[in-house]
Amino acid sequence: MSTRNSFRPGELWPDNSGVHINVHGGGVLFHDGVYYWFGEHKIAGEAGNAAHVGVHVYSSRDLYNWRDEGIALAVSDDPHSPITRGCILERPKVIFNPRTKKFVMWFHLEPKGNGYSDSLSGVAVADKVTGPFQFLRALRPNAGVWPLNVPDADKRELSAAELARLSDMDVAGAPRPWYPKQLLFRRDFAGGQMARDLTLFVDNDGSAYHIYASEGNGTLHISQLTDDFLQPAGKFIRVLPGRFNEAPAMLKHGGKYFLLTSDCTGWAPNAARLLAADSIFGQWEELGNPCIGPGEQIANTFESQSTFVLPVQGKRDAYIFMADRWREQNAIDGRYVWLPIEFQHGVPTISWRAEWDLSVFDKR
Ligand code: GAL
Repeated sequence: MSTRNSFRPGELWPDNSGVHINVHGGGVLFHDGVYYWFGEHKIAGEAGNAAHVGVHVYSSRDLYNWRDEGIALAVSDDPHSPITRGCILERPKVIFNPRTKKFVMWFHLEPKGNGYSDSLSGVAVADKVTGPFQFLRALRPNAGVWPLNVPDADKRELSAAELARLSDMDVAGAPRPWYPKQLLFRRDFAGGQMARDLTLFVDNDGSAYHIYASEGNGTLHISQLTDDFLQPAGKFIRVLPGRFNEAPAMLKHGGKYFLLTSDCTGWAPNAARLLAADSIFGQWEELGNPCIGPGEQIANTFESQSTFVLPVQGKRDAYIFMADRWREQNAIDGRYVWLPIEFQHGVPTISWRAEWDLSVFDKR
């Protein structure tokens, strides 16, 4: 197998066996000198958008050449399991917990047969980075907990009249001008918040956060995890209610927190967004589209949707924007768009490069 020494965004990316890498909606964990790339294993055709195999993992020391490490979390053959074959299992992310020495995976889970309506978070755990991961539970985060950043007046469950109003509304998960910004999190207080697209982020102090698209995709939540990373810790905020930010990917640079997100248009690409805050539970501000280039490229984020920001080890201020070029009709053919994040005036920006390598990070 020929050794690769560059990234070619959007092209086929063969693994050590010459097979196109199969880790869609993925994220990367760096552990003991090795990068591990986890993501959705997709199969051919439109049916391939559901989970028929599980979460795939690859390893690499240089980020260009990836070795197939097999299936980290397998779907279940038990029809009663929440992760039974044919469920929807998306955007898995893995972090390492230094206290428990466990690898912890969170993902978006829709048990088979209900479309995207259950909006659950799946949690799995492993002793070894490549798995096998054991499925622990599926949950809706933050049941019985009010967000930190809502006025006391909004900390009340819905009245019968408000529930009736809501049941008349189509808030099916895409932007709607009538999206009720103050109803959905209150409706879901008792049962837990909806959780779809997600990322995980571990801060410098070791605290971990689960960032997920909630409230019918209309509002992001940033939710702290317990010390073992296995449960919500019961502290969360709502970010930009009604803005329909999806596909969150987090990065911390120069003491500032940045979130790269997308608009909410299913598998079709759209324009990325950049959000910033001085503290993770702070006030989040939208800065606009981080992509730079011709209008048609930045209108669809170079034909891709964010999934993760990968900090490159051993280089200063070096982060890779990881995104998916989905192929809805033939899911297995989805492509990976990796581009270097370039800071301008302290702000992350992304420009198209047909081919590039890690030396871009040296030229600063
Ligand atoms: C996208 C989301 C993907 C997947 C898809 C299904 O908006 O980012 O992860 O859920 O919708 O249509």
